[in-house]
Amino acid sequence: MAGRAAMSAAVALLAAADSWLYEEFATEGNVRVGYDARGQQVASLLLDRQSGAAFRSRQSYLYGQFSVQIKLVPGNSAGTVASFYLSSGDGPGHDEIDMEFMGNSTGQPVALNTNVWANGDGKKEQQFYLWFDPAADYHTYTIIWNDRNIIFKVDDLFLRCFTRHAYLPYPGAKPMAVHATLWDGSYWATEQGRVKVDWSAAPFVVSYRGYLADACVPAGDGCPLSCPAGTDRWMRRQPSAAEQGTVAWARRNYMHYDYCQDGWRFPQGFPAECSRG
Ligand SMILES: *[C@@H]1O[C@H](CO)[C@@H](O)[C@H](O)[C@H]1NC(C)=O
Repeated sequence: MAGRAAMSAAVALLAAADSWLYEEFATEGNVRVGYDARGQQVASLLLDRQSGAAFRSRQSYLYGQFSVQIKLVPGNSAGTVASFYLSSGDGPGHDEIDMEFMGNSTGQPVALNTNVWANGDGKKEQQFYLWFDPAADYHTYTIIWNDRNIIFKVDDLFLRCFTRHAYLPYPGAKPMAVHATLWDGSYWATEQGRVKVDWSAAPFVVSYRGYLADACVPAGDGCPLSCPAGTDRWMRRQPSAAEQGTVAWARRNYMHYDYCQDGWRFPQGFPAECSRG
């Protein structure tokens, strides 16, 4: 390690490079900004009875790798939903790639809901219990989105891979912005809406740091994408055999819900990708 002066210069540089929130995002509701002990910027979203909170990237992207470290609401988080997701916007025919953390009563497992919307069709949820306490420390959550598949990662583990199949809906034409939100999901999130937010524990806080987007942007009319150097890192990324192994491990041990097994919801038959893997 270099001397003290070099160290503090490095820390200053890190802090500057890590001031990502206001440079890249518009915020809404109660968002607090601070720095952790290593000088990394931390953006905290607060939820109380009056309002939730969010940040949304000004730039929209078409394919990329997006990751952020999140520390979820501690204690009784029942009814709350924190998220990290991509969306092309509201309205019919929109595309979306979701990671949503469904809170729970103290000591009960938080579920991570993953979903893909293509052209307004979004009934493609898979939910997993996390194998660690997501409020005890930061963990890294990553979405890799390319023209072959969408990969959801937790820390270094592949959790889910949504494969593109010819002639089936896939988000590949509409640029999407990056969003993070904390909201009252009482009607939905915990035990199918039976357990509501306990407002006596408000405000609820979820913290984000270390945001990274390595992603292409649409280059304008008739032009292809404008991509950063080294795009192949994620543009050609598909799970290796070992990574398919972790997907199978997560399914076997931690899956809480799979749309491809919910016959009640699809009385006319499962979506076509369910039988193709
Ligand atoms: C919350 O905890 C209960 C009880 O352990 C469990 O049944 C439920 O699936 C958990 N997660 C959610 C999101 O409701």
